[in-house]
Amino acid sequence: MIDAFDLDGRVAVVTGGGRGIGKAIALELAAAGAAVVPTARTTAEVDAVAEEIESSDGTAMAADADVTDPDAVSAVIDRTEAEFGGIDIVVNNAGFNPDDALGRPEEISTESLENVLEVNLSGAFEVTTAAAESLLESDDGSVINIASVGGLVGLPRQHPYVASKHGLVGLTKSMALDWAPEVRVNAVAPGYVSTELTEELEANDQLRQSILDRTPLERFASPEEIAGPVVFLASDAASYVTGECLAADGGWTAR
Ligand SMILES: NC(=O)c1ccc[n+]([C@@H]2O[C@H](COP(=O)([O-])OP(=O)(O)OC[C@H]3O[C@@H](n4cnc5c(N)ncnc54)[C@H](OP(=O)(O)O)[C@@H]3O)[C@@H](O)[C@H]2O)c1
Repeated sequence: MIDAFDLDGRVAVVTGGGRGIGKAIALELAAAGAAVVPTARTTAEVDAVAEEIESSDGTAMAADADVTDPDAVSAVIDRTEAEFGGIDIVVNNAGFNPDDALGRPEEISTESLENVLEVNLSGAFEVTTAAAESLLESDDGSVINIASVGGLVGLPRQHPYVASKHGLVGLTKSMALDWAPEVRVNAVAPGYVSTELTEELEANDQLRQSILDRTPLERFASPEEIAGPVVFLASDAASYVTGECLAADGGWTAR
C-alpha cells in the first residue's frame, strides 16, 4: 500500500510554491518522488525551495510567474514541458486575502472583490487550462486546488475570499466531470494554518482564541499537515477520488 503514495516519475507544478503551505506541498511532493516546479512572483523564494529539494537529492526547477499573467503562466508551463517532457500534477495554491477585502459587505469595493477573484479563482483556472494538454495526455493527471474552510461555509468579513474559495470548489467539481476519466480534479480545504497569511491573526490574542475555541483539534495546522492530503490526492492511493473537496481543518466544518 505504501507504493500507492509513490510519485516517482511524475512532474508537479505548485503555484505559490515559495513559502507557507505551497512550500510544504512542493517539498512533500518531491519527497514522494515527483519532479517539482515551485512557482510564485518572488524569485528568491522559489529558487530557495528548488535548492532545498535538490539538496535532498530531489528534482526541481524554480520558475517565477504571477498567476494573473497569462503569458507568464504559459511560459512556466512551456518550460516545464520542455524540461521534464510533460506535467502530471498541478497544485493551485497561490492565493491571498488582502486587508482591503476584509469587512462588512458594504465596506468592500467591487475592485477589491475582483482582485481576490482574479488571483484565487481565475489564476487557478489559467494555470490548469494552460497545462490541459499535458494533463490530459498523462496517465496520472491530477489537479489539486487549495481552497479553504471558506470554500465550504461562510466566514464573516471575508466576502471576496469566501466567494473565491467557493468558486474554486465549484470549479473543482465541474472540471472533474469534464476531465474524467483522464484527469482527477480535487480540492483541499484547510482550516487555519500557521503561515505569513495568518501571522497577524495568530498574533492577536482575542482572534487566535476565538479560532482555537471553534477548532475541535484546538490548534492551528502546520503547513505540512496540508501537504499530506495533497500528496494523497495526487497519488494512486486516491485513484478513485475525483470532484472531492477534502477538509483538512481540525474539525472546523464538522460542527
Ligand atoms: N494559511 C491559512 O490559514 C490558510 C487557510 C486556508 C486556505 N489557505 C490557502 O492556502 C494557500 C496558501 O496560503 P499560505 O497561508 O501559504 O499563504 P502565504 O504564506 O501568503 O503564501 C502565498 C503564496 O502564494 C503566492 N502568490 C500570491 N499571489 C500570487 C500571484 N498573483 N501569482 C503567483 N503566486 C502568488 C505567494 O508568492 P509571491 O508573493 O512571491 O507571489 C506565496 O508563495 C492560499 O490559497 C490560501 O488561501 C490558507
